[in-house]
Amino acid sequence: MENLKELIKNRRSVRTYDGRELTAEDKEKLLAFMEKTENPYGINVAFKLMDAGEHGLKCPVVVGTELYVGGKIKRVPFAFEAFGYAFEMLVLYAQSLGIGTVWLGGTMNRQAYEAAMELGDDEMMPCASPLGYPASKMSWRESMMRKAIKADERLPFEALFFDGSFDTPLTEEKAGKLAHPLDMVRWAPSAVNKQPWRAVVKDNAVHFYLKRAKGFGGHEGLDMQKIDMGIALCHFDLAARECGLKLRFSQEDPEIPHDESMQYIATYRVD
Ligand SMILES: Cc1cc2nc3c(=O)[nH]c(=O)nc-3n(C[C@H](O)[C@H](O)[C@H](O)COP(=O)(O)O)c2cc1C
Repeated sequence: MENLKELIKNRRSVRTYDGRELTAEDKEKLLAFMEKTENPYGINVAFKLMDAGEHGLKCPVVVGTELYVGGKIKRVPFAFEAFGYAFEMLVLYAQSLGIGTVWLGGTMNRQAYEAAMELGDDEMMPCASPLGYPASKMSWRESMMRKAIKADERLPFEALFFDGSFDTPLTEEKAGKLAHPLDMVRWAPSAVNKQPWRAVVKDNAVHFYLKRAKGFGGHEGLDMQKIDMGIALCHFDLAARECGLKLRFSQEDPEIPHDESMQYIATYRVD
């Protein structure tokens, strides 16, 4: 199996599939994994496989597969971050099996997906993803879409991460043992590739902030950028642990001065 760095760097959104159904073995592995995803908030995420034909699921940007996975979670504080973390674990696991995914929050007939997930009154389905084997060539629509949102690009390290305060960009050299886990955050997927994750490294702690993009306040009670933050926490946590770092998750706002577009999310202390 590829190591985590390769999984993260080789993952890309897959919207064009080759039409083959998942093998029974791959499906079983995914189902088993879905039972054991975790997140630092301890909020349960329930996954379900869904057939597009059976439930009338439509996603105009996806071709070549009929299989989808959705996740549901209770509408409680930090549910978006928890969901982002847990669903990204599944995305990376699928990648390790050669199965493509793309996070879907908007470009689908959401009501049909939500009905298929059989949501309880206090539950939501923040996102879903198709599952299948990537086609060797992307559809024209997918390649146009990737170009439009510059999906292959990421902001530079120094624009995302800071040293002690938001006034001082953090260089990779200065980041030392944190450079790799932070770089793995850089390669995370995010809604419309907005990359809202920011982090300040201070006194052996990494404080994560959300830099809200204009007009991304969350529609229909769904906060895609908080989901992005959960994905970032997942990449950081997995990569740091793989490097042997001992982490402690906490929510203790360090009250680092920041502008109003920024919001504190969570902290990893490095022991
Ligand atoms: C929370 C979230 C929601 C997303 N929603 C959609 C969507 O509705 N439709 C879509 O085609 N891609 C969606 N994406 C995929 C992003 O556009 C993609 O991750 C980003 O452009 C970076 O490209 P990459 O995943 O290939 O690295 C979403 C991603 C995230 C994290």
